[in-house]
Amino acid sequence: MSAKIVPPTSENLQTACSILAAGGLVAMPTETVYGLCADAANPVAIARIYDVKGRPDFNPLIAHIAGLEMAERQGHFSADAKALAGAVWPGPLSMVVNIRDTTSIASIARAGLDSVALRDPAHPVARSLISTFGAPLVAPSANLSGRISPTRAQHVFDDLGDRIDLIIDGGACQSGLESTIIDARDAHPALLRLGPVAAPEIDALWPGLKQADLSAEKPVSPGQLLRHYAPDARLRINATTALPDEGYLGFGPVESDLNLSPASDLVEAAANLFDMLRQLDAQYTQIAVAPIPSGGVGDTINERLARAAERA
Ligand code: TXA
Ligand code: MG
Repeated sequence: MSAKIVPPTSENLQTACSILAAGGLVAMPTETVYGLCADAANPVAIARIYDVKGRPDFNPLIAHIAGLEMAERQGHFSADAKALAGAVWPGPLSMVVNIRDTTSIASIARAGLDSVALRDPAHPVARSLISTFGAPLVAPSANLSGRISPTRAQHVFDDLGDRIDLIIDGGACQSGLESTIIDARDAHPALLRLGPVAAPEIDALWPGLKQADLSAEKPVSPGQLLRHYAPDARLRINATTALPDEGYLGFGPVESDLNLSPASDLVEAAANLFDMLRQLDAQYTQIAVAPIPSGGVGDTINERLARAAERA
């Protein structure tokens, strides 16, 4: 079954919201590129995004919000960050802020980080979709990983048409460049990704913009950042049984303390991974993890587990 490409009528936006609420994936136009949306609070839907894109790792996703009020329910904004958002939003600027304890954005969307990239898109269709849904939507660019970002509904269809639920056609994207990303957590902002909002524009609104330190000692690339999420517990991977003092994280029909997916569903396992590691980490000093089959999202899970195990 191929996803339908539909015009952005209010009826179609309602349908899109029902699909999203049921854990489905909907592509929406933004002023930068088309985004592949999922309910930011639904870890299984988000795991499906990684899966259909073939995204090689759990690179954190941008959560799209409508209005500063919705943003502030998710993350902490300093006075300067708020002033910048007030001036540039809605628009192609993503701001990394620390999450609030009460955030509804799932851990898997944040790659386990305590921060989140928030963006208030200017595109009227994106705005009405988020407002109608009434909660944040995560949306990476709606392309297969490694391919060019989509700027027309047809591009989305060509890459992902047979793997997602609906494509809302908003015409060609205005910007066609992914949003500028800044780290807005400190006294001065740091530029993480160049984009449509130029550095001087940001600097004029919030002086002291730094180029992010991309050196190995202070990694900002998400794949490296995930290392910070390695559990305190020692991790033993590819373990078919647990030793006496170990907590056992199972996969498939095995006896375990927690099970990533009793039905051996890798997408479900990916959705549960960070949460279950966190739970076991709170209870055990050693965690054994069952073998996870390779292929697709399984490779991602194994890569993450290998990193976490290595650090211990
Ligand atoms: O224009 C855009 O930003 C498009 C449209 C759909 O809004 N979205 C987009 O998403 O480009 P994506 O997933 O292709 O890029 C998200 C980027 C990644 O490079 C990731 O590293 C960064 O955002 N990112 C997300 N959360 C982050 C965080 N907490 N800290 C640092 N970087 C983060
Ligand atoms: Mg992308």
